[in-house]
Amino acid sequence: MRRYHVTTFGCQMNAHDSERIKGMLEELGLGEAAAPEDADVVVFNTCTIREKPDTKLAAYLGDAGARKRAHPDTVIAVGGCYAEAQQERIFSLYPQVDVAFGPGTIAHLGEWLGAGGFGVARGTWGTGEERVFAATLPMHRERTFQAWVQISMGCNSVCSYCIVPAVRGREVSRRPGEVLAEIESLATAGVREVTLLGQNVNSYGRDLGTDFAQLLRAVDAVDGIERIRFTSPHPKDFRANVIEAMAECNAVCEHAHLPLQSGSTRVLKAMRRTYSRERYLALVDEMRAAIPDLALSTDLIVGFPGETEEDFCETLTAVEEVGFDSAFTFVYSPRAGTEAAARTDQVPDDVKRDRIERLVEVVQRVATERNATRVGNVEEVLVEGPSRTDPSFLRGRTRRNMAVNFTGDAPPGDLVNVRIERATSQTLGGVQLAVVRV
Ligand code: SAH
Ligand code: SF4
Ligand code: F3S
Repeated sequence: MRRYHVTTFGCQMNAHDSERIKGMLEELGLGEAAAPEDADVVVFNTCTIREKPDTKLAAYLGDAGARKRAHPDTVIAVGGCYAEAQQERIFSLYPQVDVAFGPGTIAHLGEWLGAGGFGVARGTWGTGEERVFAATLPMHRERTFQAWVQISMGCNSVCSYCIVPAVRGREVSRRPGEVLAEIESLATAGVREVTLLGQNVNSYGRDLGTDFAQLLRAVDAVDGIERIRFTSPHPKDFRANVIEAMAECNAVCEHAHLPLQSGSTRVLKAMRRTYSRERYLALVDEMRAAIPDLALSTDLIVGFPGETEEDFCETLTAVEEVGFDSAFTFVYSPRAGTEAAARTDQVPDDVKRDRIERLVEVVQRVATERNATRVGNVEEVLVEGPSRTDPSFLRGRTRRNMAVNFTGDAPPGDLVNVRIERATSQTLGGVQLAVVRV
């Protein structure tokens, strides 16, 4: 049997897309290999949001090229956002690549690799009209009790630092009937937690005469779905009806990922985020008033072109003021073709490095303080399996999306109560009490 291996970079949408890529390869009769070294078809599902994933890919493709020289039958396929950004150039940059495809054209992978031919294909790119929802393709699921559900593709925002609109195209929503049919069949198959996915998940549905709040309510009504998550929302689209739906739907978890990017209104304007610091802080107040015990996470960028020390300090104070439970912190990385990359006032690398260190320190201190307040609570945890760092512990997540390592004996997929006894900046620790629902 021929075997495949998929390496995934980037965001949850790519993790979702990789499950579809695997599903398609399995339909073609391939089995999964444990490592790229053992595979006949080596796939990289790429990300190009910052420079780092591009460099990482180069190293992986070097290894894959070496394998191909030793085993010339090996097929190397590169999909995802980096492939979409490079298009035809990918074949000259990396002559070892046989097949390349964009995020919207995963559906073609079968034709290119199919019928046992495994022929060389030159890419078909995805930002044009022919894009197909990856969600409609066969699926290989990593977990039986959790699932990603794609509700839209593309992004209509114009954030000046971001390459996503160029590689994922204009926003298109998936029909609510299709989304719900998928979630109903997932629930029947034993899935109890779904994460709704879109580049801008809460602008969902405007192209179809519906909206994200209605979708949340409809998903909440599906029997068997006990936890609903979604990512990533944009603060500008967090309307009152979405907050109400979050507050009223039992299955919607008490967590929102709310990317702030910068605490400086001046920088936010240059980023074209369309909200100010004040509007963001008011939104946080509104959400916390409606949803008791809400956890908030965020994305932050340091070193955006023109960011002064004063602007940066406003990001630090915003972290303190909001009290984020967790935050992803990024050094600004210029992306070819974006508005911000063309600016002449780029921040020097040493300044960026200094700022990211100071930001991480504040983020970790605030998160540690927030987590410390959970000690003594009993929290509902969805068991994911043994802890990766110490298999004598189980690992799972609370409704507020905190990772918990705990002693207990529940199998993956169970919902259990855990008494929280310890906290760090990124994890909680505790002991399993009663099983809530098996
Ligand atoms: N659609 C999502 C995710 C975008 S990518 C959203 O809007 O929230 C995830 C994060 O990467 C962004 O929120 C931003 O913080 C960061 N990011 C995007 N482009 C970047 C760049 N050029 N340099 C550094 N960080 C970037
Ligand atoms: Fe990028 Fe902005 Fe769209 Fe998010 S909302 S994907 S940061 S352009
Ligand atoms: Fe990366 Fe594409 Fe996601 S650039 S962050 S994989 S949308």
